[in-house]
Amino acid sequence: MSKRWFQAHQRDTWRRQARSKGYRARSAFKLKQIQEKFHLIREGDLVFDVGCHPGGWTQVAVEETGPNGLVIGIDLLASAPVEGAQMVTGDVTDSTSQQQILELLQEGMKVDGTLLPQGEQEQRLFNTIVSDISPRLTGQYDRDQAISLELVAMVFDFTLPLLAPGGAFVTKIFQGTGIEGIVKAAKQRFSRVQRFSPDASRNSSSEVFLVCKNKLPLPKKGSRDKSVAQELDLHLESEGIIQPKKDELSGEIKSGFRRIPKKE
Ligand SMILES: C[S@@+](CC[C@H](N)C(=O)[O-])C[C@H]1O[C@@H](n2cnc3c(N)ncnc32)[C@H](O)[C@@H]1O
Repeated sequence: MSKRWFQAHQRDTWRRQARSKGYRARSAFKLKQIQEKFHLIREGDLVFDVGCHPGGWTQVAVEETGPNGLVIGIDLLASAPVEGAQMVTGDVTDSTSQQQILELLQEGMKVDGTLLPQGEQEQRLFNTIVSDISPRLTGQYDRDQAISLELVAMVFDFTLPLLAPGGAFVTKIFQGTGIEGIVKAAKQRFSRVQRFSPDASRNSSSEVFLVCKNKLPLPKKGSRDKSVAQELDLHLESEGIIQPKKDELSGEIKSGFRRIPKKE
């Protein structure tokens, strides 16, 4: 039996199961399996679903949060509505879409459409962030993996300030160069970080899910003044994968804690 045939067969099996259970995508089972193992989403939670189209993960998140929860999703592509969720069509890295998410969060609307009492509104933060985000794949693995890593860093940087202390975060990530930089940055911000391959994605690709539990009230020392994207760059520089960036004003080359004076 060829590996390709086996992988295609596995994907068809999950697709059939998804159809029979009313899920829009086989990926729904990935979140179900992550949830079974790690219990990231609880009843009544406020969940942010990043890269939500066509809505498989959103459906699972709505099931888990129940009638008192709220799921907000975002994707470049429009999705058919999911009862119990609010979906924004836009780019999560774009400030206009980010503003829309912030507004939805501040409105503090419950799934039944009622507003939260005044006073509670401003304090509302997400309890869980789930991200299955994936760039449009070109088929060139190294390139796709690098773009995906950068996207994941941007998702961390936008969403972490919106996640309540103690909250959980899960993201898809493609195995390969630089992944350790993201894992390291996550460990500075959460007390538990694990990689997990659900059965529904095993054998099908080189994706893995990074499950981060218990967001710390503040990042650990050394990370308080840095974004995840900056920490990823520092990691890639230290591995010799990217060139250190030049300081625009001084022209000096900045690399981690080491400053290399500009050559005349
Ligand atoms: C694997 S799919 C998500 C499947 C979804 N979790 C489900 O179960 O239905 C990945 C999604 O990430 C979205 N995406 C990629 N880049 C994005 C970006 N910058 N902002 C928002 N969504 C993005 C893609 O449009 C794509 O729909």
